[in-house]
Amino acid sequence: MSDLKTKYAGKIIDGKAFADNMQLQIAKDTAALKQSGVTPGLAVVLVGDNPASAAYVRNKKATAEKLGFYSVDIEKPTTITQQELLTLIDDLNARDDVHGILVQLPLPKHINEETILGRISPNKDVDGFHDVNAGKLAKGKKDGFVPCTPLGCLLLLKDRLGDLSGKKAVVVGRSNIVGAPMANLLRHENCTVTVVHSKTLDLAMECRSADILVAAIGKPRFITREFVKPGATVIDVGINRIETQDGKGRLVGDVDFDDVIDIAGAITPVPGGVGPMTIACLMRNTLIAARGANYSTVTDLAKLRG
Ligand SMILES: NC(=O)c1ccc[n+]([C@@H]2O[C@H](COP(=O)([O-])OP(=O)(O)OC[C@H]3O[C@@H](n4cnc5c(N)ncnc54)[C@H](OP(=O)(O)O)[C@@H]3O)[C@@H](O)[C@H]2O)c1
Repeated sequence: MSDLKTKYAGKIIDGKAFADNMQLQIAKDTAALKQSGVTPGLAVVLVGDNPASAAYVRNKKATAEKLGFYSVDIEKPTTITQQELLTLIDDLNARDDVHGILVQLPLPKHINEETILGRISPNKDVDGFHDVNAGKLAKGKKDGFVPCTPLGCLLLLKDRLGDLSGKKAVVVGRSNIVGAPMANLLRHENCTVTVVHSKTLDLAMECRSADILVAAIGKPRFITREFVKPGATVIDVGINRIETQDGKGRLVGDVDFDDVIDIAGAITPVPGGVGPMTIACLMRNTLIAARGANYSTVTDLAKLRG
């Protein structure tokens, strides 16, 4: 642990520890579900040979297996056509042993991501990217799948802050994967939410109004202390690889951790903050999908949905 992390240990939101606990519970619930003859099945589809995507997929597959899931690993070359990929999704939609389907993004340029994501059955859309699930989240309905990264951020925020009602939240970034669903989740928690992006006029001023600041922009260490209200809770979604002198490179967030740590009330580190929560929430969504597919075994679905 760096000196700053030791000095400010109480401010650090330990996403890794939270995710580890979630995984323990998911493993227990999975074992119980298996007693009734259902094994949660997660299919992960990887197209091409992007090393970062391959690493994410390996991690997801390993976690699924560790928790007792049945993992279906599908790798296709970049030459796959859109039609072939759609047929593959149709096959997975039809399989009883597959409860969750995840297509690792980005896809090659000749494939329309929206078309592919839209083909996944909403009931197996454990990433929560299908229009049906995005619509349910926008409307505040509780029976859809919520995208894993913003869901993980929300769980960490509620764990640290308790009731979020009335808090001023600023979400930096408006992507459909992170920023937009994050804003919806915070709105449903009765936060007053502002979404800022690359066209926002005075970004720092908007951010400084936040009790809760969520950074999801994909720009290494972009958020410095000028953006942070003293005492604010800062959630750093960013995962950016930067060069280091030893040539190994390292991961940093969208927040300049060292610059912000003394002014923030609490902050997620990178790595060890939001990243592990994303995977844990993917597993949680898959377990929910498996329970939903065998509805007679569901006893605490509402509790599990949180
Ligand atoms: N921890 C995890 O598990 C996890 C999961 C997913 C993503 N991520 C990371 O989170 C970050 C964001 O991912 P994403 O998929 O949401 O990225 P994205 O689709 O590229 O969206 C980035 C958003 O940030 C905004 N933005 C970019 N530059 C900006 C600037 N200078 N000032 C203000 N806003 C700016 C963009 O604004 P416009 O809309 O105006 O272009 C856009 O809304 C990335 O670092 C990614 O690696 C982490």
